[in-house]
Amino acid sequence: MENKIFSRVLTGDRPTGQLHIGHYFGALKQRVSLQGSHETYVIIADVQVLTDNFQFPEKVRSNVYEVALDNLAVGIDPERSVMFIQSMIPEIAELTVFFSNLVTIARLERNPTVKEEFAQKETVFGKNITFGFLGYPVSQAADILAFEAAIVPVGEDQLPQIEQTREIVRKFNGIYGETFIEPEPVLSSSPRIKGLDGRAKMGKSIDNAIYLADNHETTERKIMNAVTDVNKIRKNDPGNPAVCVVFEYHLLFENGHAEHIRSECCSGTRGCVVCKKELAALVNGALLPIRERRIHFSEHISDVQNILHEGTEKARLTASATMEKVRERMHIDYRRTEVRS
Ligand code: TRP
Repeated sequence: MENKIFSRVLTGDRPTGQLHIGHYFGALKQRVSLQGSHETYVIIADVQVLTDNFQFPEKVRSNVYEVALDNLAVGIDPERSVMFIQSMIPEIAELTVFFSNLVTIARLERNPTVKEEFAQKETVFGKNITFGFLGYPVSQAADILAFEAAIVPVGEDQLPQIEQTREIVRKFNGIYGETFIEPEPVLSSSPRIKGLDGRAKMGKSIDNAIYLADNHETTERKIMNAVTDVNKIRKNDPGNPAVCVVFEYHLLFENGHAEHIRSECCSGTRGCVVCKKELAALVNGALLPIRERRIHFSEHISDVQNILHEGTEKARLTASATMEKVRERMHIDYRRTEVRS
């Protein structure tokens, strides 16, 4: 990893399913560009996803591969980034245990992301939160600090986790001596994109997202069904691009025509069908190389397994070096030959 700025990056995803273009613009694109300049670790957080999917281990396992494929498809390069599976790094679990002494239950209960997610997951938890789910920010701190990452690219919803990580660093350093640095979150510069139905959230169950794994026809079908300005009923009615997701996507996949599209829409000289067809062609063109790489890797799944294994081996070396330091600071570095004190 020569010529890289020494501020290590760690970021990653919970393997909840295939990744979509919201993930692409919100995280993956930035991740790919960071790997050129920084030592980059990409975690596939399967232990974290088990905290609210513990009853679906097969689903988690297959999603680990889906997420790996999506990362490789967008250009995560195993020569330049270390992609690994969280559950394969026992050091993270170990560090989580040590950190758990430094965080109160009350503090975890105040974490706004945990609170919100818990409220949405009544079907999983009923009224009572599990120890594992409540504690996942502690395990996320261990994900980051096991690699002594300085920079953590995340979505806005993850800022409370980084704040908790920083608090753990201060507490740890205060008790055991200067060990960790406080990581900085980095937010993606592109705004959160809406689903094709105009809803804020994209998801499989509502069929309003374009997945990196979607083919040409599926993408076109989804775009043709997108919700546009509801007040533009006939082709020649003037529309309002500011409230139209098709226009929002045109801006994202922009090829220099957005202003022209805006003025035609506003003046009632552009119909939504044409506008959607153009968008579908634009999106399909942009996603083509990503899809081709994805198909290539999905047909060579043993290469993907090798990449994950090699990444995991490298990640373990880094994490075990950190643990050596941690154990020493915590006075739990028992050695066979030491003089007992
Ligand atoms: N919690 C993150 C998410 O839901 C995924 C994640 C797990 C992560 N561990 C991490 C992100 C460490 C950044 C750093 O998207």
